[in-house]
Amino acid sequence: MRVRAGRRFLACLGVGAAWMAATPALADDVATLVTTVCNACHMSDGNSVVPMFPKLAGQQAEYLEKQLADYITGKRPNDVMAPVIAQIKPGDIKGLAAFYAGQKPAPGTVNDAALAEAGRKLYEDGNEESGVPACVGCHQPAGEGNPRYPRLAGQHQAYTSLEMQDFKTGVRANDKGKVMRAVADRMTEAEIYAVAEYLAGL
Ligand code: HEC
Ligand code: HEC
Repeated sequence: MRVRAGRRFLACLGVGAAWMAATPALADDVATLVTTVCNACHMSDGNSVVPMFPKLAGQQAEYLEKQLADYITGKRPNDVMAPVIAQIKPGDIKGLAAFYAGQKPAPGTVNDAALAEAGRKLYEDGNEESGVPACVGCHQPAGEGNPRYPRLAGQHQAYTSLEMQDFKTGVRANDKGKVMRAVADRMTEAEIYAVAEYLAGL
């Protein structure tokens, strides 16, 4: 126990030094959340290494703020994030979003080049027959997003696929105007996996 606690303390110090240099204005409670709560799953720089935990580094600040607010109000229900969110004060949202938006996103890994190529076509052209719109118009050519649409580039395949399935089934229903539910509803499972594979490599 003592060794574990000591290690964690040292890890906090190391992490603290790194972000204090990068973002001097980080409020105390935001810094504590980042280094003692969020880092367990999203890593200290927001580049999660577990496929089911989304990468937050480089994500659009506006999108991060909206998601945190949606978790707090229960508009985006999730069993893993719920107990975490209970520890966040509404006043921390802006600081948390700015911190992760300012981190450098690490690239993802493509495991299947042919699948990624099929995903690229869908991302850029959509599927005229089934009415899937091109993703590129909203999420931008390099998947970088903008203040209105989230970044998707470099995200873990497993997370992207899960979110698409959740939009499809309506488990996730916090998209304004049902934009993403309408997109996902028209997609096949194969198309979801293909586009997720492509996005990991962007
Ligand atoms: C126990 C693991 C865990 C911890 C700790 C955790 N998260 Fe998460 N986080 C997740 C998972 C899993 C998801 C995806 C949930 C879903 O599908 O809605 C997620 C999703 C998110 C999202 C939405 C990302 C997106 O692309 O839509 C944000 C923002 C976020 N977390 C921020 C935080 C912050 C800030 C903290 C610390 C205060 C934190 N998380 C702590 C596991 C965790
Ligand atoms: C008309 C604009 C629009 C189009 C077209 C569109 N999206 Fe989206 N997408 C959005 C918006 C807006 C959100 C954020 C929803 C929210 O607030 O939770 C989003 C969210 C997402 C998310 C969740 C990101 C995360 O971090 O959780 C994924 C994944 C996604 N889109 C994939 C796609 C794919 C793949 C396509 C093409 C097949 C596509 N989108 C087409 C507007 C669009």
